[in-house]
Amino acid sequence: EMLEKGGYDHFMLKEIYEQPRSVRDCLRGRIYPNEGRVQLGGISEFAHKLKNVDRIIIVACGTSWHAGLVGEYLIEEYSRIPVEVEYASEFRYRNPIITEKDVVIAISQSGETADTMAAIEMAKEKGATIFGVCNVVGASIPRLTHAGAYTHAGPEIGVASTKAFTAQVTVLTLIAFHLAQQKGTLTSSKLAELLTELDNIPQKIEKALESESLIKEISAKFKDSRNCLFLGRGSGFPVALEGALKLKEISYIHAEGYPAAEMKHGPIALIDEEMPVVVIATKNSSYEKVISNIQEVKARKGIVLAIVTEGDTEVRKMADYCIEIPDASEAFLPLLATIPLQLLSYHIAVMRGCNVDQPRNLAKSVTVE
Ligand code: AGP
Repeated sequence: EMLEKGGYDHFMLKEIYEQPRSVRDCLRGRIYPNEGRVQLGGISEFAHKLKNVDRIIIVACGTSWHAGLVGEYLIEEYSRIPVEVEYASEFRYRNPIITEKDVVIAISQSGETADTMAAIEMAKEKGATIFGVCNVVGASIPRLTHAGAYTHAGPEIGVASTKAFTAQVTVLTLIAFHLAQQKGTLTSSKLAELLTELDNIPQKIEKALESESLIKEISAKFKDSRNCLFLGRGSGFPVALEGALKLKEISYIHAEGYPAAEMKHGPIALIDEEMPVVVIATKNSSYEKVISNIQEVKARKGIVLAIVTEGDTEVRKMADYCIEIPDASEAFLPLLATIPLQLLSYHIAVMRGCNVDQPRNLAKSVTVE
């Protein structure tokens, strides 16, 4: 087993460290930065349908649903096609309005999640076109869908999804760019610029992983917390949700992810000198707004751990702890900001003596509803 773990203590840590490679594998043969072009095999066949689609519905569960939320931000931003993101379990039972004009993207690491499969079957019956974003090759979901793109992250053994999430986000980024290319909502020179940057993201993930020893030190301060709040805005919001899910799954610390501005509509009541608040505070369009959210937390004596852009000085003045990630365009923020949060939950769970790879009550793939 030690061999399978490649010298790492746990599969989860090995899979966290595999991300520069898994994201690279996911991009291979799909991006042509010099030509400003994205090529996505299966999905390209449906180019015509996609070009004229009125809306896209994304269905998924858990971490895959979080990837779907990132997809919503990216697809709407770049292709201007409206997107709805649905929990498969809700979608399948609430008699949703679906027609032959709709395109459904189903996201699943395992390709076997019962609720996601049932949602696909229902949408198919109503005539929608279904695309799958799956990791396990040949699983049930890829066989149920009309077309799709594999995430190519390789087998994920840890129950807590890590590399599958970043690979899903990568594929959704490619789908967003692909749609934008077809609709002409991105010029090929802008697309070329974004693809050149995307091509470099694996190296930036590697750089983000270098903060592990600092993250370990911070984990020691947070390990006895009973609650934890994760805040982000824009595509930092799904990153906050995913950070919170990771922490609760493997460390059993109660954690909530919130859009930072929603804090004052409820969760702010929880903040006291014992409450850790993890804030995605990178330099992007919501930077100034996030800074005022940090001030609101500090005014109530909360403990702030901020994920910041390398070289940041402003947030550093107010936060108790900062973890830097490399600078990148907003489109790629989720791929980088997720990395320190994975390491944070991993180290906290290890320090609490939890079974990191097989947390209690959880199965890798939920094949019953
Ligand atoms: C991830 O850490 C979870 N264990 C869980 O939320 C998972 O993402 C969910 O069950 C969906 O699984 P799938 O991607 O295989 O469909």
